[in-house]
Amino acid sequence: MSLPEKFMIGAATAAHQVEGNNIHSDYWAQELMPHTSFTEPSGEACDHYNRYEEDIRLMKEAGLNAYRFSIEWARIEPEEGKFDENEIEHYRKVIACCRENGIEPVVTLMHFTSPVWLIAKGGWEAESTVEYFRRYAGYVTEKLGSELNYICTINEANMGLQLAAIAKRFRLMAEQAAKNAKSAEGSVQVGMNFEKMMENMKFAAMENAEIFGTPQPQVFVSSRTPEGDILVMRAHQAAVEEIKKKAPHIKTGLTVSLHDLQALEGGEEFAKAAWEEEFSHYLPYIKDDDFLGVQNYTRTLYGPQGQLPCPEGALLTQMDYEFYPEALEHVIRRVHEEFKGDLIVSENGVAVSDDSLRVKFIETALNGVQNCLNDGIPLKGYFYWSLMDNFEWQKGFSMTFGLIAVDRSTQKRTPKESLSYLGSYTKK
Ligand code: BGC
Repeated sequence: MSLPEKFMIGAATAAHQVEGNNIHSDYWAQELMPHTSFTEPSGEACDHYNRYEEDIRLMKEAGLNAYRFSIEWARIEPEEGKFDENEIEHYRKVIACCRENGIEPVVTLMHFTSPVWLIAKGGWEAESTVEYFRRYAGYVTEKLGSELNYICTINEANMGLQLAAIAKRFRLMAEQAAKNAKSAEGSVQVGMNFEKMMENMKFAAMENAEIFGTPQPQVFVSSRTPEGDILVMRAHQAAVEEIKKKAPHIKTGLTVSLHDLQALEGGEEFAKAAWEEEFSHYLPYIKDDDFLGVQNYTRTLYGPQGQLPCPEGALLTQMDYEFYPEALEHVIRRVHEEFKGDLIVSENGVAVSDDSLRVKFIETALNGVQNCLNDGIPLKGYFYWSLMDNFEWQKGFSMTFGLIAVDRSTQKRTPKESLSYLGSYTKK
């Protein structure tokens, strides 16, 4: 391997999935509803809020040189317009700890969780969210901008449309045969429990109304309307504007969840339409960004009737989708045809219990990265998802994506071989 000198090799987390006790967030509230769709609440998660020093030190010892984590809006602005300086100080310490360990912090401002008050005001379908997000981004930049070089505004800005498509498919499948429904979950990256969600819908609607004042709150990971989809882009643009005003040196971009869309004979039109929806239609809103965060986990196959199931005999991950690390190279090349700026692999990873499979996954994925670099594609970094086994949203703690195992009864960390394997790339 010959990675460029400043190439970032790191791991990623998101505040809600690792920190613990994110009590002012929409997810926290929904996890604790009697008819919740979550298999378990996030609780103290991995207690990363208190143990970040140990976690960052483990990264450094393994050789990693970058860490992507998120700043939690629900902590920074727990009530509308009331900003919590203490929480800013917390993240200042996390950033400083990264620097002391020679690790480049790459910060995400919005990784799925929002303050409850934002959702009560209409959430990610409400016009006012654009300006609220601008204000929050401006505040964080004013306080911490001088210490940062990279900000991802929004994680997987395209997730809402993917969910809308899957929810529609799930409804159709549920009508045809309820017993087939489970297989739809494997086609969305993020942990979802559609079956339980449908069962509980009526009661959940009432409980949501009590918390958010509406039976159908528009959290970030909700099925999005086409207008909501563009609203997310406008929130991103507003945040970028604000960040650049206050700290023009910061490189800004958003991240998108992208599948390697492969067409078998007759499936070309489906694959083309899916790519347009998953990626191309966002280009007008992101084309001038400093970078784009590419997030990829697997491939999707299309035949003459549309999306196909995983090939017979394919190895499946715990998430029920295919183990297919070759997807990353394909996706990077595809994105580069249309987006000419810098690219960062902001997430790529696999949920498996056998860590040797994770090592193999990383090896194949990074070979793909090297091939892209050799062809002159401006790739600036690779972040594995995730630094540690954590809270996989509705699926709870059972999905093991981590480079570090966490015993949640003691919060003891045990680095897996894959952690030092990934770190070895900074020495190659
Ligand atoms: C999200 C993460 C999630 C991961 C694995 C991505 O969709 O950004 O929050 O845990 O995939 O499912």
